[in-house]
Amino acid sequence: MQAVNIAIDGPAGAGKSTIARMLAKKMNYLYVDTGAMYRAMALYFLRNHTDMENEDEVRKACGQVDITLEDRDGELLVFLNGENVSSLIRTKEVSRMASVAAAKTPVRTKLVELQRKIAAGRNVVMDGRDIGTVVLPDAKVKIYLTASSQVRAERRYRELKDPKPSLAEVKAEIEERDDRDMHRKNSPLRRADDAVLIDSSEMTPGEVAAQIAAIAYEAH
Ligand code: DC
Repeated sequence: MQAVNIAIDGPAGAGKSTIARMLAKKMNYLYVDTGAMYRAMALYFLRNHTDMENEDEVRKACGQVDITLEDRDGELLVFLNGENVSSLIRTKEVSRMASVAAAKTPVRTKLVELQRKIAAGRNVVMDGRDIGTVVLPDAKVKIYLTASSQVRAERRYRELKDPKPSLAEVKAEIEERDDRDMHRKNSPLRRADDAVLIDSSEMTPGEVAAQIAAIAYEAH
């Protein structure tokens, strides 16, 4: 049987990972959070003070990094050179560095290859920024999930714990990240021509997951 891959792309805070996780569980697919991979790479660059403007240094650093994902009882864990870094990659510094690192060719080349290997021959729900356009251009189901920047900022704000930045700060950060992700030269975030656009601003995660599951069912 040919694998039915589901590609979900969209800006930060649109609800991609919540929905991708729900869908994967519902359909018994493997969930692949590609943002977590960029975040783990970013943590390595931060720890090693890699000069991100020096392409040789970035390329060398990429050669020293091994990223793996593991599904442990339904929870997706990400490992950096064998260390479980899942709880260390959600900080503001890592978010910012992930977006900077994601614009660099050696980083993208490495992770895209790894993501294609993971998806080969099995059913996956993969979320990111370039899944439908670059990583899995032949995915049977492609979704471009978005929401207004106000709603996305409010969702992120609710998840944050003390010390909480202001809602305006969260919104500014999201907009800065969107701008970098959408305007970079390498695989910018954009809707694939054949992706279904879903605006989740006024929808619950359950409603979005049900809509995508119905699309996937028809694609079988
Ligand atoms: O989805 P996220 O916030 O965890 O992603 C972190 C950063 O990684 C984000 O700024 C964009 C980048 N990214 C990317 O360029 N391509 C992907 N497939 C996934 C994430």
